[in-house]
Amino acid sequence: MKHYLQFQDFTADEYEYLLKRAALIKQKFKGYVTHHTLADRTLAMIFEKASTRTRVSFEAGMYQLGGSVVHLTTGDSQLGRAEPIEDSARVISRMTDLVMIRTFGQDKIERFAAHSRVPVINGLTNEFHPCQILADIFTFIEHRGSIQGKTVAWVGDGNNMANTWLQAANLLGFKVHVSTPSGYGIDEQLAFSGRAYDKGCYQLFSDPQEACKGADLVTTDVWTSMGYEEENEKRKKAFADWCVDLDMMAVAKKDALFMHCLPAHRGEEVQAEVIDGPQSVVWDEAENRMHVQKALMEYLLIGKQG
Ligand code: CP
Ligand code: NVA
Repeated sequence: MKHYLQFQDFTADEYEYLLKRAALIKQKFKGYVTHHTLADRTLAMIFEKASTRTRVSFEAGMYQLGGSVVHLTTGDSQLGRAEPIEDSARVISRMTDLVMIRTFGQDKIERFAAHSRVPVINGLTNEFHPCQILADIFTFIEHRGSIQGKTVAWVGDGNNMANTWLQAANLLGFKVHVSTPSGYGIDEQLAFSGRAYDKGCYQLFSDPQEACKGADLVTTDVWTSMGYEEENEKRKKAFADWCVDLDMMAVAKKDALFMHCLPAHRGEEVQAEVIDGPQSVVWDEAENRMHVQKALMEYLLIGKQG
């Protein structure tokens, strides 16, 4: 049994399969071709933080595969009344086939997985957001072909998204230019969970404009992630120069793409002209969450198809 708790849980070969399978699944969805590979299977989704895309993409995706979904939040389950995560894992995994969790610390999802009888998927933790980066890479490939050897500019917080980009770069052979305000940088030990990595897979830049030079993809995220709301005002000041604007896009490659995992704050981490402009692929990126996660759920439950 496999879990998907961070990007580096899978090999490059597994990603090659998943990305191809997701493309086929997307074609079937667009063509209204029934693809009930997970008939009679149940996905439990546990949300300890808010969500729009993750909930809709997993829920709609599971129905399209012929399965069903149970939706739990902290507020409407015993998780909010201090039932130990280990006990929740034991119980939920005896009644369902697969679990997706969005929570705070990575340790919590790891504790859940350690006591689960079924595969567990990370739907975002403070440290990682692997499903999102899988969708982002799928979207890049869809628009530009292989991401191998390419440069991704990360502008903003050294957060769950940044950490996951680093793991993906290390595994799939591309480079991340990271520019974060001082005090909000990445922690390599945490990003790679203490595992060995190629130091050449990323480069740090104090100037976000420099980080964007020659990039094939420019990407960013909210200045204040969920769970850090009390730092909002302090972060607004610290991040003021880390707004992806047309000047940054102008120094990237001519055909550079712009991505944002969403939700976005126009005028904060990104200018409206960029996210709503011709280089932005954020709506494809959001939709692709569903297609890649369908491939992921199938893979975890019934292995390689086709
Ligand atoms: N990108 C993403 O995970 O969005 P939600 O928070 O809406 O799920
Ligand atoms: N970094 C953001 C991503 C939201 C999808 C957060 O953790 O809130």
